[in-house]
Amino acid sequence: MRKVSIVGAAVTKFGEHWSSSFRDLIAEAAVKAVDDAKMDGNEIQAIYGGCMASGRFIGQEHIGALIADQLGMNPLASTRCEAACASGSVALRAGYLAVASGMYDVVAVGGVEKMTEISTEEAAIALGGAGDQEWELFMGATFPALYALLARRHMHEYGTTEEQMAACSVKNHANAVHNPYAQFQRAITIGDVMESGYVATPLKLLDCSPITDGAAAVILCASEHARKHTDAPVEIAASGQASDSLALAQRSSLTELNATKVAARDAFRQANISAKDIQAAEVHDCFSIAEILAIEDLGFFKKGYGGKASIEGETALNSKISINTSGGLKGCGHPVGATGVKQVVEGTMQLRGEAGKRQVPNLTNFLTHNVGGSGATSVVHILKRG
Ligand code: COA
Repeated sequence: MRKVSIVGAAVTKFGEHWSSSFRDLIAEAAVKAVDDAKMDGNEIQAIYGGCMASGRFIGQEHIGALIADQLGMNPLASTRCEAACASGSVALRAGYLAVASGMYDVVAVGGVEKMTEISTEEAAIALGGAGDQEWELFMGATFPALYALLARRHMHEYGTTEEQMAACSVKNHANAVHNPYAQFQRAITIGDVMESGYVATPLKLLDCSPITDGAAAVILCASEHARKHTDAPVEIAASGQASDSLALAQRSSLTELNATKVAARDAFRQANISAKDIQAAEVHDCFSIAEILAIEDLGFFKKGYGGKASIEGETALNSKISINTSGGLKGCGHPVGATGVKQVVEGTMQLRGEAGKRQVPNLTNFLTHNVGGSGATSVVHILKRG
């Protein structure tokens, strides 16, 4: 396996894009990433694009071909990758493996979703397809409801409180204030979260990630050629992926996501480091309880202590470990197919020292964690300078 580096990275503003189409978002992220890599687009040999549900959101499928067509790059190989909200990360992994294997020297990886063209109710049904359609969605269990079940069980077993969950959203909005690409550049308080209306008890509006439009892209190349494109390459030191049952009812535990534990174990093994070597991470906080599960399952905090650590500020910017420096899915927004790639763009900016007021100093290892569905797919990448 060859070493693989990120030499270009870019993201569009996340939010509601009324004057940019799905194609516009792809073009903006891709052109900015190619510019960032200071290369001619013709050097790209293949494209991997993460997209979860464009058929439901905008009525368009066949996104691999659309991306190449929109970017004027026909006839190169362009492939859509789908794993629900982890679509962006499986695209990154596909691009990583293609370069690591020696098949290609330079590939582009993107992620995109345009979710605001349909109503919230229609979006809830589209997103619900990431769970078990027959045994969950058909019975009325939308994603807020599934994560509410996980929250209830964590509260029951470990005494986690609604205030502790709210602290994750408060911290993520605080980080998003410093991120010009974030959907919500505004601070909130625990009181604001507690007073926001219930979506699925115990989860309230401000415990939920929003519905978002956006795209992100990175350019990968064999590490041996990386310095041709940038003075600050970022190496993908590890890539881990695992799966689990689609339906929560078939899990042996509701207080952990086993796919995350396995993906993290494999990634830490590959990078030859452990959780304590990570100073900052983007984790999948589609709902506040998801961040608590993630920081426990990734090994940053002991099982059951994620809520306490969050409310005591141990995950804040430049504390014990800086979690969701971009604002996470909650503050930065969650265009489902783009999120995994955006997490890696944030890691790249952080490792290059380009994250402005949200910069974590003296960073050596950055972890990204992206979940599909309620934990049926989990993908972990570890990034380092090089
Ligand atoms: N966080 C903060 N503010 C939010 C928000 C969120 N998650 N969702 C909406 N808002 C704000 C909007 O900006 C808007 O503010 P404004 O009136 O100042 O413009 C207001 O709340 C109403 O927005 P609206 O779009 O009508 O909200 P909604 O009730 O239709 O949708 C949710 C709210 C929580 C149901 C929706 O965001 C949602 O479904 N989130 C979960 C998405 C999801 O499941 N993703 C996959 C995870 S696995």
